[in-house]
Amino acid sequence: DITRHYKFDIKLQNVTRLCHTKSIVTVNGKFPGPRIVAREGDNLLIKVANHVRNNISIHWHGIRQLQSGWADGPAYITQCPIQTGQSYVYNFTIVGQRGTLFWHAHISWLRATVYGPIIILPKHNVSYPFAKPYKEVPIVFGEWWNADPEAVISQALQTGGGPNVSDAYTINGLPGPLYNCSANDTFKLKVKPGKTYLLRLINAALNDELFFSIANHSLTIVEADAVYTKPYKTHTILIAPGQTTNVLLHAKTQAPQAAFLMEARPYFTGQGTFDNSTVAGILEYEQPTTPIKNLPLFRPKLPALNDTNYAANFSQSLRSLANAQFPAIVPQTVQKRFLFTVGLGSSPCPKNQTCQGPNGTKFAASVNNLSFALPTTALLQAHFFGQSNGVYTNDFPSTPLMPFNYTGTPPNNTLVTNATKVVVLPFNTSVELVMQDTSILGAESHPLHIHGFNFFIVGQGFGNFNPNKDPSNFNLMDPVERNTVAVPSGGWVAIRFLADNPGVWFMHCHFEVHMSWGLRMAWVVMDGKLPNQKLPPPPSDLPKC
Ligand code: C2O
Repeated sequence: DITRHYKFDIKLQNVTRLCHTKSIVTVNGKFPGPRIVAREGDNLLIKVANHVRNNISIHWHGIRQLQSGWADGPAYITQCPIQTGQSYVYNFTIVGQRGTLFWHAHISWLRATVYGPIIILPKHNVSYPFAKPYKEVPIVFGEWWNADPEAVISQALQTGGGPNVSDAYTINGLPGPLYNCSANDTFKLKVKPGKTYLLRLINAALNDELFFSIANHSLTIVEADAVYTKPYKTHTILIAPGQTTNVLLHAKTQAPQAAFLMEARPYFTGQGTFDNSTVAGILEYEQPTTPIKNLPLFRPKLPALNDTNYAANFSQSLRSLANAQFPAIVPQTVQKRFLFTVGLGSSPCPKNQTCQGPNGTKFAASVNNLSFALPTTALLQAHFFGQSNGVYTNDFPSTPLMPFNYTGTPPNNTLVTNATKVVVLPFNTSVELVMQDTSILGAESHPLHIHGFNFFIVGQGFGNFNPNKDPSNFNLMDPVERNTVAVPSGGWVAIRFLADNPGVWFMHCHFEVHMSWGLRMAWVVMDGKLPNQKLPPPPSDLPKC
């Protein structure tokens, strides 16, 4: 185990895609940002220096941050933002994790351009639970806006309508040949016949779940959110923002006289405008004979845009490896049960404004009808120093305040309540959380992400969760373990986790627009009694508000 040092300089950079040149916020001038490569057990010291006018903070998405909550990164949750001219050293150790994760800005909508892969290799002399791949290739999905990306957030927040949608999806920053003025900006993967490649898929897009497929090739999933899975072979991956998936690609033994597109485009059941375009990259074989440009190009067949059955079957097919070396430690008993509704709603239109939400209101989103308001200081500091007064209250409801038929006729009142409420959990509480989609403004899939924890997805279904019937079907043996789960459109998902990490942990929809509208809350996990169960004091360079 070693210490690895990285320097992230936040600065502007001109980038051209689709024939539009934009000055965007980047790390070290790169789009997407630099890779972090480490081994399980390593300590990372990442100095983030802010040279732009925006405030910044960086989140290491999926890193457990055991007793290092000060390094987690969500602005106003675990830290105040790093202001212009300031810097902060994120200091954390990777404990018990290996696989693919990613880092991204966690303030405003800056993660539109500020993101990059985290690759965690196993410890020295520890091998993968599958044959060593010939090569490993990160494939990061993102988005491109011809407009100023910062304008997309003001669009969604100030006009009370939906956000400006992106003009393209990207693979490793490149939109690919299916867009105008983009053929030269195409990701290419060149493979050798007979070899196996590990593709590290990351969905860093702001607001869209994506289907992904490669023409004439199947993919074998071996890991999700940096946890090994039982190998699962499929033609099409579904990946939500915040999720990562490692897949094995077996190149054909003979170089085919063809090249193959890899394509990603959205899975979406909601209302409103969104980017319904397709990003493509090209899979090529090393060919001794025919020049590649003369070969026929095959395209994959992706499921329909709103194929919710495909989505449900896909996510139910993933299982933890759950063997002796990589056991699935699923809480078998539960000390605290929660039922959270997640969905859209509305809030009154401010005076002197015209809003574009339903019936002239502003769009909003909520958990248990509460739209979480960000404080002006960081929750973790308030918690640590016992100064929660005026910052947050600890009465977040464990069940919806007004039960209704969540997937049936919406209630008359679609208004949300604004509040900064948290759930407080004693150290080592075993938690079961059912998240229920609501159809108040139409059913929609919501990729819910929890900071500080992985959780096991023990059950899911369509319609309303039935507490008397559904738990008997829960999988407590080998459920998949993740940090982000898509609550099914018009359905529910049940997860379990052990609250063994002291600190304040954000939970939110990883659709940036829903998070901004309030689909977010926080868990406060108290210290345990032993010294190794306590959150240490903040580092001296922790930014101030
Ligand atoms: Cu990747 Cu709080 O998010």
